[in-house]
Amino acid sequence: MDAFAGKVAVVTGAASGIGLGLALRCAEEGMKVVLADVEAAPLAEAEAAIRAKGAEVMAVRMDVSKDAEVRRLADSVFASWGTVHLLFNNAGVSGSFGADGIWNIPKEDWDWVLGVNLQGVVNGIRHFVPRMLEKGEAGHVINTASVGGLVTATGGPYTVSKHGVVALSELLYKDLKTRSAKVSASVLCPGWVDTKILDSARNRPEELTPNALAQPVVTPRIEMMRKVVREWVKNGMRPADLAGLAFEAIRKDTFYVVPIDEKIAQGVSLRLEDIRLRRNPTLTPLG
Ligand SMILES: NC(=O)c1ccc[n+]([C@@H]2O[C@H](COP(=O)([O-])OP(=O)(O)OC[C@H]3O[C@@H](n4cnc5c(N)ncnc54)[C@H](O)[C@@H]3O)[C@@H](O)[C@H]2O)c1
Repeated sequence: MDAFAGKVAVVTGAASGIGLGLALRCAEEGMKVVLADVEAAPLAEAEAAIRAKGAEVMAVRMDVSKDAEVRRLADSVFASWGTVHLLFNNAGVSGSFGADGIWNIPKEDWDWVLGVNLQGVVNGIRHFVPRMLEKGEAGHVINTASVGGLVTATGGPYTVSKHGVVALSELLYKDLKTRSAKVSASVLCPGWVDTKILDSARNRPEELTPNALAQPVVTPRIEMMRKVVREWVKNGMRPADLAGLAFEAIRKDTFYVVPIDEKIAQGVSLRLEDIRLRRNPTLTPLG
């Protein structure tokens, strides 16, 4: 797909970070933009910023982990604007980032992170893709995973959810191509990006917050890891640059959107070599 002006884009997690970067880029390409996010105040600010670019915009407060809310989002977009050309399943949360052993991660962490990061993408695909295909126009689905979906270094539920998004996206791509569909798919696997991802707890539902006694113990090693990761995120890529990569991928129909970075390439190769050689997982400094 390489013509965007006047077409419709839906971006989840659009009020902040990568989603906002994608939404701004959609507006710059002359698209109508649907902003979907769970956080009201930043969503209103994002709506104003997109409108200031001269784009038609619709802002919807919703939770991607809730099937009925994603269905309602699809209903209102198709009713108002007739179709959808670009679907960015991007909303995501980091979880609490670290526990002293994966077995000590509370159930609420698994439910929250898998619910938003993985089930949220499933919901987007289930409610939007059939209607996009029915319309018969060129389109593209871009799911935000992470480099964390290609290697197993950190983060328990986060890493598991992102591996799920990569697998889900590969299956989606293959199902679309084997049917010669006009809709294609890509998976966005960013490294560190300067966003609010490490402050995801701001959107954590109360019912998915473990009580103080069930919180995982934060060891000095976890504390140190959190500091280092915060620094990496702060010095990470800019969302606008990542949005540029995403649009290049849509134009060229590139599936894996992974920033060019020697360390990332080595990490992915190492894991694949472990599997190919039936070698046990290689331990890296991150785990
Ligand atoms: N920042 C990074 O270093 C990085 C790296 C790799 C992948 N990612 C992925 O990028 C995506 C975007 O994250 P970001 O870095 O821009 O973080 P961010 O926190 O700045 O933005 C995430 C947005 O998602 C929204 N959101 C959270 N839960 C939601 C829900 N249940 N329903 C709807 N919206 C919800 C938040 O309100 C926020 O606006 C996520 O999937 C994240 O995992 C980020």
